[in-house]
Amino acid sequence: MSATHPDSVGSAGEVVLAAREVRKSFAIGERSLEVLHGADFELRASERLCLMGASGAGKSTFLHILGLLEEPTEGHVLLAGEDAWSLPASRRAALRNRHIGFVFQFYHLLPELDAVENVVLPGMIARDGPRFDRRSGRERAIDLLSRFGLAERLQHRPAQLSGGERQRVAIARALFLDPKVLIADEPTGNLDTQTGERVLDLLLDEQRRRNLALLLVTHDERISARCERTLVMEDGLIQADSAHPVPQ
Ligand SMILES: Nc1ncnc2c1ncn2[C@@H]1O[C@H](COP(=O)(O)OP(=O)(O)O)[C@@H](O)[C@H]1O
Ligand SMILES: [Mg+2]
Repeated sequence: MSATHPDSVGSAGEVVLAAREVRKSFAIGERSLEVLHGADFELRASERLCLMGASGAGKSTFLHILGLLEEPTEGHVLLAGEDAWSLPASRRAALRNRHIGFVFQFYHLLPELDAVENVVLPGMIARDGPRFDRRSGRERAIDLLSRFGLAERLQHRPAQLSGGERQRVAIARALFLDPKVLIADEPTGNLDTQTGERVLDLLLDEQRRRNLALLLVTHDERISARCERTLVMEDGLIQADSAHPVPQ
């Protein structure tokens, strides 16, 4: 397969997110289990990158570290030129809010909030993020949700939404603050094939429209075929996939 997929946005841009020698250990009782063994990684502006790998390989752990949600035991995450895990927590939170949207396999919506509130809330409480008054924040959220086909579901709570609808709400939330990097951990992994395809189309359309750098974890070869580059995580390290050589 050629290195440049027809969906390609063109030449590789600057590196917006990078990992350097990232290690992560978890304490299991008295013992420590190392899951990531010095993973290196680069994501470029506007790039559509897939990460694959066996279950348990450490993909979610790695994404949480890249997304500044979980601290590495060792190593560095560089986001927009900043060494994110060396910053004080409040500055790291501001950096995350400004640059990163995160989509989880199981949505992580707040059950007591309706769709609009789920989209707005993280942005409204984001420290140092863009300030919206309540009204303009709601309007932005309603615009996003309507564009995602949820105009008739604005006041539904997560329990009143289907899986595909929940994931659309979660994608709207991730995009609410206009990040430049979108990280998605098996975003269609919990959906039936047809629903998953529609959610994936939406995600990829937004990636293209907004020129996002997208890091997408998937088990699905059809999804990775729609990415410009595919990496494989194996034994706690990132291995390049020979089927999709990195464009030089
Ligand atoms: N909080 C945790 N505590 C202990 N072990 C964990 C924790 N999170 C993940 N692990 C372990 O790390 C390994 C990698 O998990 P994960 O990153 O979820 O893999 P993947 O997403 O590739 O399936 C697994 O063996 C898992 O059990
Ligand atoms: Mg996982």
